[in-house]
Amino acid sequence: MRHLACVAVALLATVTGFAQKDSTKNAPDTIKVGNFIIVKKNKDNGHESNVRVSISSDPNRKRKETNLSTNWFIFDLGFANYRDQTNYTTAQSTGYLQQINGSAKVDQNSTSLNSGKSSNVNIWFFMQKLNLSKHVLNLKYGFGLEMYNFRFDRNISYRKDPQPYIFNDSISFSKNKLYAGYLSVPFMINLNPTPGKRHGFNFSAGVSAGYLVGSHIKQISNERGKQKIHNDFNLNPWRLALVGEIGLGPIRLYGSYSINKLHKDFTGMEQYPYAVGIRFSSW
Ligand SMILES: *[C@@H]1O[C@H](CO)[C@@H](O)[C@H](O)[C@H]1NC(C)=O
Ligand SMILES: *[C@@H]1O[C@H](CO)[C@@H](O)[C@H](O)[C@H]1NC(C)=O
Ligand SMILES: *[C@@H]1O[C@H](CO)[C@@H](O)[C@H](O)[C@H]1NC(C)=O
Ligand SMILES: *[C@@H]1O[C@H](CO)[C@@H](O)[C@H](O)[C@H]1NC(C)=O
Ligand SMILES: *[C@@H]1O[C@H](CO)[C@@H](O)[C@H](O)[C@H]1NC(C)=O
Ligand SMILES: *[C@@H]1O[C@H](CO)[C@@H](O)[C@H](O)[C@H]1NC(C)=O
Ligand SMILES: *[C@@H]1O[C@H](CO)[C@@H](O)[C@H](O)[C@H]1NC(C)=O
Ligand SMILES: *[C@@H]1O[C@H](CO)[C@@H](O)[C@H](O)[C@H]1NC(C)=O
Repeated sequence: MRHLACVAVALLATVTGFAQKDSTKNAPDTIKVGNFIIVKKNKDNGHESNVRVSISSDPNRKRKETNLSTNWFIFDLGFANYRDQTNYTTAQSTGYLQQINGSAKVDQNSTSLNSGKSSNVNIWFFMQKLNLSKHVLNLKYGFGLEMYNFRFDRNISYRKDPQPYIFNDSISFSKNKLYAGYLSVPFMINLNPTPGKRHGFNFSAGVSAGYLVGSHIKQISNERGKQKIHNDFNLNPWRLALVGEIGLGPIRLYGSYSINKLHKDFTGMEQYPYAVGIRFSSW
C-alpha cells in the first residue's frame, strides 16, 4: 500500500510539474497545458463564461528526449509453455513422480501442456530507460510480477502431503493448471536506431531474475469439484531468464526463456518455461 501511495504521489508530482512548466499564456484567453489548449471566452456582460478545452498536438514540437524516462504499469499478455528435457526414468527414481493406487507412471506425455490455454500475464510496476549513447543505445530495466499458468492436457496432479509429488490421477479434469508467480527484475540493452521517432523499429535484449512469490494447483472435476492447493511443490524459488522485446510500428512483442529449471534439481524434473506475447507499453 505504501508503495502504491508513493507511485501515486510521484505520478501527481510529474503531472503538476508538466503543468507548471508548459502553462504559457499564448493569448489573453488561451492557456496551453501540454497538448491541451484551453480557450476561455467571456461574454460582453461578464456574467456568462464559456471554457472550451481542445486537444491538439503541435506538429513543430519535437519529442523531448530525456536521459532517463519512466513508464508506469506495463502489461504483457502471452502464451506460455516449457521445453521438457526431463529424463522420466531418473525423475521416477527421485520419488517426485509417484504411482498412487497402481496408477500409470508419469511420463513425457503426462506433463504435456495445452499450448493454446497456457498463458503468461505480466504487470511491470515500472520500467525505466537510461540513455547510454545518443539515445540509440539505452539501458532498460524494471520491476514487476510475472504470472505463469501452465494448463495441463492430462490427468496429472500435484500434491503436497507428506512431501510434494506428482502422479497420474484416476479422474478426468475439465481444468487442470499449475500457477507460478515471480517478482522479477529485468535488465536489457535497448537499441533504438531512430531516436525521437514515434513508431520506429527498436529492440531490447537482456536477462531477468525472478523470485517465486506464489504457486498453486487448480483443478476442476465432476468428482471433486473445484480444488485449489497452495504449495511451492518443490518449484525452484528462482527464475533466471533471457528476455527480449521488439517494437515495430505500433506493435511491441516480448519473449522470455528460462535458463534454469522450473523445479528444484533433486526432483529430476527438467522443464524450461518460456513465453511470447504482446507488450502494452508506450516505448
Ligand atoms: C543528458 O546527459 C548529458 C551528459 O550527462 C547532458 O549533457 C545532457 O544535458 C542531458 N540531457 C538532458 C535532457 O538532461
Ligand atoms: C535416462 O537416465 C537413465 C539412467 O538414469 C539412462 O540409462 C537413460 O539412457 C537416460 N535416457 C535418456 C533419454 O537420456
Ligand atoms: C488411494 O486409495 C485409497 C483407498 O481406496 C484412498 O483412500 C485414497 O484416497 C486413494 N488415493 C488417491 C490419491 O486417489
Ligand atoms: C506419447 O504419445 C504418443 C502419441 O500421442 C505416443 O506415440 C508415444 O508413445 C507416447 N509416449 C510415451 C512415453 O508414452
Ligand atoms: C494415466 O492413468 C490413466 C488411468 O488411471 C491412463 O488411462 C492414462 O493412460 C495414464 N496417462 C498417462 C499419460 O500415462
Ligand atoms: C545522451 O544522449 C545525448 C545525445 O542524444 C548525449 O549528448 C549524451 O551525452 C547522452 N548522455 C549520457 C549520459 O550518455
Ligand atoms: C483422464 O482420466 C479419465 C478417467 O480415468 C480417462 O478416461 C481419460 O482417458 C484420462 N485422460 C488422459 C489424457 O489420460
Ligand atoms: C519502439 O517501438 C514501439 C513499437 O513500434 C514504439 O511504440 C515506440 O515508440 C518505439 N520507441 C522508440 C523510443 O522509438
